[in-house]
Amino acid sequence: MEFRGAHLAFKSRWKKTDEELCRHSMSFILHKAIRNDFFQSYLYLLEGLPLVKLYALTSEVINGEMQFYARAKNFYREVPASEEGMMGDFIELSNTDIESSREFLRNFVGGPGKAGTDFALDCGSGIGRVSKHVLLPMFKHVVLVDMMENFLSEAQNYLKGQENRVDMYYCCGLQEFTPTPQKYDVIWIQWVSGNLTDKDLLGFLIRCRNGLKENGIIILKDNVAREGCVLDLLDSSVLRDLNILSSLIEKSGLTILSQEKQEGFPEQCVPIWMIAMQKNPCPTKNGMM
Ligand SMILES: C[S@@+](CC[C@H](N)C(=O)[O-])C[C@H]1O[C@@H](n2cnc3c(N)ncnc32)[C@H](O)[C@@H]1O
Repeated sequence: MEFRGAHLAFKSRWKKTDEELCRHSMSFILHKAIRNDFFQSYLYLLEGLPLVKLYALTSEVINGEMQFYARAKNFYREVPASEEGMMGDFIELSNTDIESSREFLRNFVGGPGKAGTDFALDCGSGIGRVSKHVLLPMFKHVVLVDMMENFLSEAQNYLKGQENRVDMYYCCGLQEFTPTPQKYDVIWIQWVSGNLTDKDLLGFLIRCRNGLKENGIIILKDNVAREGCVLDLLDSSVLRDLNILSSLIEKSGLTILSQEKQEGFPEQCVPIWMIAMQKNPCPTKNGMM
């Protein structure tokens, strides 16, 4: 046994080694090993996820999940239920954003082997800006989910004329939301992934994966850090770099089909990326299929 070898190597240096000391040093090592294994399995059973602290930095900067979500809610209480509010005062960039999203989406929808056009889910929808300009023109039915009730009430106004094709407005935090299994052709997640902790984003992606129909895709569009992760205390969100995002996606049992940087935004803006993903063809243990 590895531990025993190390133990015996040191034993020769201890002049007054007695049986008790040997037992203690052995049991200390064993105790540490068992404790680690025990907690890993315990958390695996409890959380249903193989790792709890995925990225030490992200988890450390968040410092308390309850606080993280409560602070975001406080922030959004002050945000006007309007396109300006959804764009964080960069309303002049809304058309550029929408045009690029439509173009990106067209690559994966309609035609053999591609996603269908029946149902789309707009996650962190706010008042429904993405639903109105990107999803409703392409899909027969759209479902919205957001944690803020006032945004969803405004959505009913904002989407007037198309309300018969909006099937549901769910008022719910994405960390608790489960899309109906195998229902959606496209699940759109824009400017909200940073509002979830690593563990919750991973769990959410797994539930979204289960919400996809055959050939269905998930599109995540968000601000991306140049390196590592950065906490924004203002709206209580984390910016993750592409490597961190990609490994969360991979752990969730999804495969990245394509990723594209948003063009046409001012240089001083944080880079924005669109990532299209679909279910892994083969089941993986991490994705727990
Ligand atoms: C910057 S806005 C973007 C809205 C919309 N995706 C768009 O592009 O116009 C972020 C939205 O995410 C919602 N949000 C933030 N944290 C959330 C959470 N944990 N669960 C659900 N929605 C959340 C906010 O209420 C807000 O509507």
